[in-house]
Amino acid sequence: MHAFTFQTTPGLRFGHGCVAEAAEQLRALGAHSVMIVTDPGIAAAGLLERLEAPLRDAGIAFGVFDEVVADPPEAVVSAAADRARERGADAIIGFGGGSVMDVAKVVAALAGSDQPLEDMYGIGNVRGPRLPLVLVPTTAGTGSEVTPIAIVTTGETTKAGIVSPRLLPDLALLDPELTLGLPPAVTASTGIDAMVHAIEAYTSRHRKNPYSDMLAREALTRMSRSLRRAVHDGTRDFDARADMHYGAMLAGQAFANAPVAAVHALAYPLGGHYHVPHGLSNALVLMPVLRFNAPAVAALYAELLPCVDPAAHSAGDAAKDCDAFITALGRLIEDVALPRTLRSQKVTEDALPMLAADAMLQQRLLVNNPRDVGESDALAIYREVY
Ligand SMILES: NC(=O)c1ccc[n+]([C@@H]2O[C@H](COP(=O)([O-])OP(=O)(O)OC[C@H]3O[C@@H](n4cnc5c(N)ncnc54)[C@H](O)[C@@H]3O)[C@@H](O)[C@H]2O)c1
Ligand SMILES: [Fe+2]
Repeated sequence: MHAFTFQTTPGLRFGHGCVAEAAEQLRALGAHSVMIVTDPGIAAAGLLERLEAPLRDAGIAFGVFDEVVADPPEAVVSAAADRARERGADAIIGFGGGSVMDVAKVVAALAGSDQPLEDMYGIGNVRGPRLPLVLVPTTAGTGSEVTPIAIVTTGETTKAGIVSPRLLPDLALLDPELTLGLPPAVTASTGIDAMVHAIEAYTSRHRKNPYSDMLAREALTRMSRSLRRAVHDGTRDFDARADMHYGAMLAGQAFANAPVAAVHALAYPLGGHYHVPHGLSNALVLMPVLRFNAPAVAALYAELLPCVDPAAHSAGDAAKDCDAFITALGRLIEDVALPRTLRSQKVTEDALPMLAADAMLQQRLLVNNPRDVGESDALAIYREVY
């Protein structure tokens, strides 16, 4: 076995209704005045009260920044950090999906030190202390609660990553009940995002390791068996929601240590230019990227077949099992009724070369892909799903 490193969020708490414990957890971190980072959708869904009530009961002062938007731009991050500084917050709590949690992470770093945002981009560039940070995911998708990554939209359209172990929160509070009202389309797209995290971690070129493999397999098993139910009966099927919430976290732990690759690299330009939601943009390019990668990693995809289809009988042949794996994922995407073409997302055909050129900027991710992806390959993949 080769050497590897594994890092994750030091504190995890999973349980139905555990958001009610936020106050005692914050108190244990020494917090007296916290800043809640969230978005208008969370507030409109009536979820905020589940966090605010225990804080009020415990006498912990709090302010709310609820202006996070999907694919958060720098201006939103800076505004949230200003708000935290103005109120002298001594802890940050991110309450929402990946967009919210990513902003909360950077706010904790910005408000805890003098380092300017523009110096933080890239790998290992966050210096100085950060404020205590608790993340409470309300989607089962990004796994941001256990990743050292925050994605910020810079300029008009480019997504850039800040990667540093300092962005791992002190605690992730995983309460699957928060996802019961997540609309079917969001459940489907965020769930596929999480499954892609597991798949790309399992085939990651440089840092794949036995620990991340174990997490990826368990994540895929749980999410493959539960995504359809979470989408079609999500308000009642607690078990499916729990599988998705836990599975997405496991996939986050996997890809935090064995990073994602071409699916994400080709998905980001769709989010940047067309505001296609992160999970949906992953789902759109997933199938052609799997087919593109298959010649390089048929044996690994074959190993994942029992996770996505436990009833499948191995053909005893990697190429055939790999095909069966890809077919099973295609069926899942169909069953959860996600859009299948770029055209349906208002992408125009003449924009495809620009998207392919933009995808090449994501070298941070492309280096992890098991097969080299050039600009012409990226263009062919976009054309396949146009
Ligand atoms: N940090 C990481 O490791 C990482 C990994 C992948 C993606 N990302 C980033 O995360 C973002 C995507 O996050 P996301 O997919 O979780 O979506 P999101 O955070 O953008 O949320 C999507 C929508 O769902 C709504 N919503 C969230 N929870 C809800 C609930 N329980 N009930 C009802 N509505 C709810 C939100 O209000 C929002 O409108 C992108 O910016 C992406 O780049 C980060
Ligand atoms: Fe993702």
